[in-house]
Amino acid sequence: MNAMQEQIRSIIHKHEGLKKNLIAILLDIQSENAYLPPEALRTVASELAVPLIDIVGLATFYRAFSLKPRGRHLVTVCLGTACHVRGGPKILSEFEKRLAVEPGETTPDKQFTLETVACLGCCAIGPVVVVDRDYYGHTTIQRVNTILKKYQRGNKPKATKRVAKHA
Ligand code: FES
Repeated sequence: MNAMQEQIRSIIHKHEGLKKNLIAILLDIQSENAYLPPEALRTVASELAVPLIDIVGLATFYRAFSLKPRGRHLVTVCLGTACHVRGGPKILSEFEKRLAVEPGETTPDKQFTLETVACLGCCAIGPVVVVDRDYYGHTTIQRVNTILKKYQRGNKPKATKRVAKHA
């Protein structure tokens, strides 16, 4: 048994009492690996005796899961209507420029993955950016650099509130 298989077995074992909640298992695997590696999905399928196609279907249905390697930090820029009219596209352009990646891409140093989303459900504080689990509302182009600095290598972001109004 290799290291990945051992990791998956240990995660599955942890969820035994929870009736083998597949979503919780996949979330744990993603949290360990920053994405869902194909080998991990095959191991889950074999350990749980669930068809691989069902697991892949679940992993592709939920936006929270990624089948592609992600960076250490996930930057999500909202481009829903409310955020769009308040400058979301300009915020996105600034992240693209500073990180030198486009949405869906990861920086070569594997520190950041940039993504967009249609709405985060907190339109009143738009334009909204989420980094990992930290929300930044009323974001401006000028604040983009400040936000990124908090997560750059060596900088440990202080515990921020789930919804921060200002960067
Ligand atoms: S449109 Fe951005 S949070 Fe709703």
